[in-house]
Amino acid sequence: MNINWYPGHMKKAKESIKKNLSLVDIVYEIVDARIPFSSQNPDIDNIIGQKPRLKILNKSDLANEKNNLEWKEYFKSNGISSVIVDSKKNKGLDDVINMTYLLTEEKRKSLSKKGIKNKPTRAMIIGIPNAGKSTLINSLSKRKGAKVGNKPGVTKGNQWIKIKGDLELLDTPGILWPKFSDKEVGLNLAFTGAIKDELLDLESLAIKLVDKLNSISVEYLEQRYRISVKDKSSYEIILEIGKKRGCIISGGEVDFNKAGNLILDEFRNGKIGRITLEFPD
Ligand code: G4P
Repeated sequence: MNINWYPGHMKKAKESIKKNLSLVDIVYEIVDARIPFSSQNPDIDNIIGQKPRLKILNKSDLANEKNNLEWKEYFKSNGISSVIVDSKKNKGLDDVINMTYLLTEEKRKSLSKKGIKNKPTRAMIIGIPNAGKSTLINSLSKRKGAKVGNKPGVTKGNQWIKIKGDLELLDTPGILWPKFSDKEVGLNLAFTGAIKDELLDLESLAIKLVDKLNSISVEYLEQRYRISVKDKSSYEIILEIGKKRGCIISGGEVDFNKAGNLILDEFRNGKIGRITLEFPD
């Protein structure tokens, strides 16, 4: 799987983030809770610099609950604040707001000492494609709704959405590019749907996913499809699941592609279970 992002896009995206960074007090870095490592951009520290950062472990509803807490602990031990969020069901949003106030407290205090009061606290979201940036913007803005419009000093086109009290969110997220630092990272991004399927060989991807799931726990596939995976290759497992689920082509053979797709789809939708694919350290 050799996927290279168009360098021009990356450069443009980075420049746009840098420009918007100067407008905000805090950055929400959104990652997929199933793959918090693979879905982050390793350059993030350089990009954000000293700006307060809150890591959002999004899609937490699809990830293992215990692992979510372990990741939160892990980030905390590395000095990074994080919150566990399900943007689709609006869960964890109060934590986002409370942590925002906490992480920007110093700045607000110092402004207040200078006599500057009622200045909005501003945030922006950044993350790789498909991490849930738009969904999070929508769910945060639903709470208070109204856009506050352009203001002097703000680049034309930027809209600020009132979230709560004096907290505002930039309505356009910053797009970060994932970094395929190794094969594992590329696969994790593909399993979770962060890479467009047209770019992938779905049959081998399904085999790799079955390998991966079984390496974490054989129970996932056994319970979902009521099969035994013992002493079977991933290829054989997919054939068996295909047979059980009626993925058959004329002549009675199993449609391997369809069966593989079914497993990928069910994994991505959380039907196989709440599964975290990578673990701290
Ligand atoms: P992006 O802006 O970062 O590219 O991501 P976007 O918000 O478009 O979300 C990508 C997909 O992830 C969407 O699914 C969205 O519904 C889903 N998603 C976002 N946050 C969560 C979450 O916390 N939990 C779950 N389970 N899903 C989440 P889609 O299939 O592309 O669209 P849709 O059919 O859900 O509308």
